[in-house]
Amino acid sequence: MVSERKKCSKHVGVIGAGPSGLVAARELREEGHSVVVFEQSHEVGGQWLYNPNVENEDPLGKDTFLKVHSSMYASLRLTSPREIMGFTDFPFLVKKGRDTRRFPGHRELLLYLKDFCEWFGLREVIRFNTRVEYVGMLDYGEFGKDLRWVVRSKEKRCEKVVEEVFDAVVVATGQYSHPRLPSIRGMEAWKRKQMHSHVYRVPEPFRNEVVVVIGNSLSGQDISMELVDVAKHIYLSAKSLEISEGLSKVISKHQNLHLCPQINSLHEDGRVLFVDGTWVIADTIIYCTGYSYSFPFLDTKEIVVVDDDRVGPLYEHTFPPSLAPSLSYVGIPRKLIGFPFFESQAKWIAQLLSGKRTLPPWDDMMKSIKEFYQSRDADGVPKHYTHDIANFEYCDKYGDHIGFPHLEEWRKELCRSALRNADANLETYRDSYDDLELLQEAHKSPHFTQLEPKSLPLSDPIN
Ligand SMILES: Cc1cc2nc3c(=O)[nH]c(=O)nc-3n(C[C@H](O)[C@H](O)[C@H](O)COP(=O)(O)OP(=O)(O)OC[C@H]3O[C@@H](n4cnc5c(N)ncnc54)[C@H](O)[C@@H]3O)c2cc1C
Ligand SMILES: NC(=O)c1ccc[n+]([C@@H]2O[C@H](COP(=O)([O-])OP(=O)(O)OC[C@H]3O[C@@H](n4cnc5c(N)ncnc54)[C@H](OP(=O)(O)O)[C@@H]3O)[C@@H](O)[C@H]2O)c1
Repeated sequence: MVSERKKCSKHVGVIGAGPSGLVAARELREEGHSVVVFEQSHEVGGQWLYNPNVENEDPLGKDTFLKVHSSMYASLRLTSPREIMGFTDFPFLVKKGRDTRRFPGHRELLLYLKDFCEWFGLREVIRFNTRVEYVGMLDYGEFGKDLRWVVRSKEKRCEKVVEEVFDAVVVATGQYSHPRLPSIRGMEAWKRKQMHSHVYRVPEPFRNEVVVVIGNSLSGQDISMELVDVAKHIYLSAKSLEISEGLSKVISKHQNLHLCPQINSLHEDGRVLFVDGTWVIADTIIYCTGYSYSFPFLDTKEIVVVDDDRVGPLYEHTFPPSLAPSLSYVGIPRKLIGFPFFESQAKWIAQLLSGKRTLPPWDDMMKSIKEFYQSRDADGVPKHYTHDIANFEYCDKYGDHIGFPHLEEWRKELCRSALRNADANLETYRDSYDDLELLQEAHKSPHFTQLEPKSLPLSDPIN
């Protein structure tokens, strides 16, 4: 039995110690694999490891290898309530002396991830301050040889470069660091301050300025709402002027916040011209236009490419049919309840590598990918939304591949009620809500009762 286990165990390199990489390491170890996690930062947490030091970063984040990973700003709080965030067997509990709010600030989630790491003893497999600079196939194309991977990494302080060989690589490097910038006429010629939300941290530098914020999604709204107290005027440029009830309430409350259409062009004298012909002279433009997938270290011989933010071909957003399960990705899908989904991805990968499960034949995987692309195209979904899922059923179906439990009804309902509340009450939804009955139901579920609260370090009974 033991030797059988050993035979199926693989040497796996996981790149990234954010939520995806941590849960991947946990699952891989539980399945008996040997794991090395490479993490370029000094600590776990990924995006949740707030970094105030952005002065050496290009303001538009155009470098191939960025200096800063986290795009979180100082005031950031969760968009969804803490109850729905946790991995299935590790609830995100309220803890004494910490941020006990239902929608806590970013640091609270970092602490949760640190607890997760301690609880499952993951630190011992993580190499901190170690950036992966190259991943490529060994003996690529040699008939009869199992696919293996060369991973070249550099330790930050001593600049030591290490090259190692792994049976498999899990890419868990996140997707919200590299700015996705629009192409606007005059962008190069505009001489005033232009930056992406990736480097935005606090409102103070914009005191008394006229700021144009581009992009009416979460970053654009959050940043605009905190600029109203310091900036002279904020012009929020959106693709559509049909806005939520919540945003409309905010705009009518703050006289210095204005909704504008898309930008037509930027001009050397500081003018920002909108498509309806109106214009303003601005001091700063903040691009809150989202993020792009980028894997500058990964050489797949063009087998996997990023085309307008479609990473593909990937079967179920996870497996490149020609290279899987030796190469896999965790954390590509967007707009779903992240942590349990990453966990199901990690479980599937771990079980494929141990031989407990197998993927469908190559042809079937490619067919499934093609059909998915076709259905998206038929629905008129732009290519850059390929990995936007926003569908609980998809998460459940994905889990069925490995018998992973479906999302609990209370999790789905709490998520829906937060979205509804945010839509209607953008400024207040994190502190004022009416879903306490649902919350009580959640707290009675096995997710919260399976582990004795006292057995979790520093935890308080759930209130
Ligand atoms: C502003 C903002 C707000 C957000 N708010 C929410 C929210 O409220 N709720 C929510 O669920 N999600 C939110 N997210 C999404 C968030 O990214 C995910 O919750 C989660 O962090 C994704 O985990 P990940 O491990 O896939 O990626 P990340 O958290 O990005 O972690 C990737 C890790 O890989 C490391 N890495 C990258 N490249 C290399 C390399 N070459 N070598 C070594 N290490 C490398 C990075 O240092 C990092 O530690 C937000 C994101 C942003 C940007
Ligand atoms: N916890 C929080 O409070 C919080 C805060 C911020 C961000 N986040 C998370 O971080 C991630 C990124 O969010 P994000 O808001 O930075 O990016 P995003 O969700 O990708 O939104 C970018 C927005 O910019 C728009 N846009 C692009 N080009 C434009 C142009 N030329 N003119 C006007 N609008 C333009 C996009 O429109 P199209 O989509 O049509 O291209 C989109 O609406 C998300 O997962 C989000 O949930 C969370």
